[in-house]
Amino acid sequence: MRITFCCTGTAPEPWLQGLCAALPGADVQVWAPGAPQADFAVVWAPPQAFIDEQPGLKALFNIGAGVDALLKLRLPPGLPVVRLDDAGMSVQMAEYVCQAVIRHFRELDVAEADMARGEWQFRKPRQRADFPVGVMGLGVLGSRVAQALQTFEFPVNGWSRSPKAAEALPGVRTFAGVAQLGDFLHSSRVLVNLLPLTAETDGILNHAHLSRLQPGGYLINVARGAHLVEADLLALLDSGHLAGATLDVFRTEPLPAGHPFWHHPKLTLTPHTSARTLRDESIAQIARKIAALAAGQPLSAVAGVVDTGLGY
Ligand code: NAP
Ligand code: GLV
Repeated sequence: MRITFCCTGTAPEPWLQGLCAALPGADVQVWAPGAPQADFAVVWAPPQAFIDEQPGLKALFNIGAGVDALLKLRLPPGLPVVRLDDAGMSVQMAEYVCQAVIRHFRELDVAEADMARGEWQFRKPRQRADFPVGVMGLGVLGSRVAQALQTFEFPVNGWSRSPKAAEALPGVRTFAGVAQLGDFLHSSRVLVNLLPLTAETDGILNHAHLSRLQPGGYLINVARGAHLVEADLLALLDSGHLAGATLDVFRTEPLPAGHPFWHHPKLTLTPHTSARTLRDESIAQIARKIAALAAGQPLSAVAGVVDTGLGY
């Protein structure tokens, strides 16, 4: 079995070593133009030339959860695309989002600024019930985040494409589809975006939707920069309808010098780091799936197969 590795911006050696160790007998090589045909590919943002030169692939394994960049390429019809299914990301996302919600709710950012100025100030405790958190996207990451937020007793709403059974997410008030988006937003003060970037969700964090949040709203965008209409966020921060935002992802990454987000007093920024790909966990997961497919198991036996029609 031959495996080709084509991951832009990723040092290949530890991945090759890990995949070879997990799949004894497999021939694992870094892709270069003209490389021999492989059976399986491990990819992140590969060039179109890679896809065009490897028509015999049985599946593409993406070393991230989001496949928006991969699906922009011309892929052979029917080529299975498999994304990371958690692989250690959901606990990272839960800790990142909970810290952002708690930092805002407990005004820890304000306390930090006070202390930096040498000011010792108490503030009146705020009511948790006044900070319902809405999680957009109730998949692998969003559902873990929704559960984690409940341990801190925040009211939690969730929105997804298809309706969720009550027992799937106990304690979460769930909404589904475009028809219930307005009610979901209106019921939330803090909004966490964990949607995949698709034709339907591009630009979904826009003025019309963000202004439906309760006054003093707060945005946490940890999915993709293209979900957010940046000028709309700035306008809603200026008007005071939104109190602030924590942003981990941006339309252009790295965030360009001089971008108005850089020094905005109501924004907290991180460099696309809320849930990193963990190499060992990812190698183990991908190797398990390759072994299953190579042994003749059906694609339905593998978690994380992307519906390329839906885009996630
Ligand atoms: P997932 O398991 O595929 O979950 C996607 C969720 O979004 C599902 O609940 C789905 O609804 C919902 N959804 C999709 N399209 C929708 C629509 N049009 N309207 C309403 N809901 C919709 O994905 P995941 O593993 O949780 O990852 C989510 C995203 O997080 C990734 O695509 C990626 O962009 C981002 N991410 C970011 C980082 C980072 O470091 N910042 C790290 C990892 C991932 P259904 O349940 O009905 O299918
Ligand atoms: C990171 O953003 C991912 O999609 O895994």
